[in-house]
Amino acid sequence: MITRVTKSKDVRDNIVFSSLDENKDLTQDYLDFNIVVIDDFITKNEIAILQDSQVKNANNYDVGKKMSVTDLIKKPSRLFRNEESSQILKNMYLRLSEFSIERYGELRKNLVISYFQNKLRGDVKPDQFNLRFRDVQESEDMHLDRYSFEPLRIFVNLDSMPRVWRTSYDQIECMSMLSRKKVFATSFDGPVSFEDIPDRSDTKETKISKKFKDNVNGKINSTILYDYEKKENLSPYHEIEFGSGSIWIVNTKRVSHQLVSGKRVGVFSRFYPALQLTSENLPDTL
Ligand SMILES: [Fe+2]
Repeated sequence: MITRVTKSKDVRDNIVFSSLDENKDLTQDYLDFNIVVIDDFITKNEIAILQDSQVKNANNYDVGKKMSVTDLIKKPSRLFRNEESSQILKNMYLRLSEFSIERYGELRKNLVISYFQNKLRGDVKPDQFNLRFRDVQESEDMHLDRYSFEPLRIFVNLDSMPRVWRTSYDQIECMSMLSRKKVFATSFDGPVSFEDIPDRSDTKETKISKKFKDNVNGKINSTILYDYEKKENLSPYHEIEFGSGSIWIVNTKRVSHQLVSGKRVGVFSRFYPALQLTSENLPDTL
């Protein structure tokens, strides 16, 4: 299924299409805060098997807000009726990991150089891959994520229907708007430029630096992107209908996003600096 985009003229075009046949390195798109879309990463047959799963239980609660794929490979019956799901999930996990290494080679090279220059700070985190199965019918808020680490996230639309997102200004664009509004100059939030925001570190500054980073994106979310009282967007946006089986790759801390609707999604996350996955890290399928 093909992904469709409705673009706004008032926002930078940050949506880039690639395909599985290409081998172009995608690092620059990550650094430029673009969303890279690849259609048909997962086959129709695999999607069909994964549809045999609930998104609500008998009491009408969401069944899978955040379920670890590693756990589901071991015990697919927690979410799926068809045991083949286990093998599909394992293949998907390995393909996504491989993809994130092959197509982001420049980023990896730079990280290795930074490591030897002793510039990489923070703990090494393992990759994560979770499923979120729930029926989203009302748009959530437009926001930038508020992590202290740097995520490369790959979303996989595992539903037979499109997953709808909106995206607006990126973090740098929002920051320049904030500085024009003088939000930072009149508050105790501290310095606004990237360089001045303390990075994550293992020192006693950690708590303070986390607070700074949270405040920047928190302030952007409520001042530039979303009116939390009126529940409406404050800025123009593109709307994207991600096709069934497609993947999209994005730094969710730097690129604003709003979930509008969808039911079944997989989220593969690599946090830099990262521990990369090999097949030995995954359990055996049934
Ligand atoms: Fe988010």
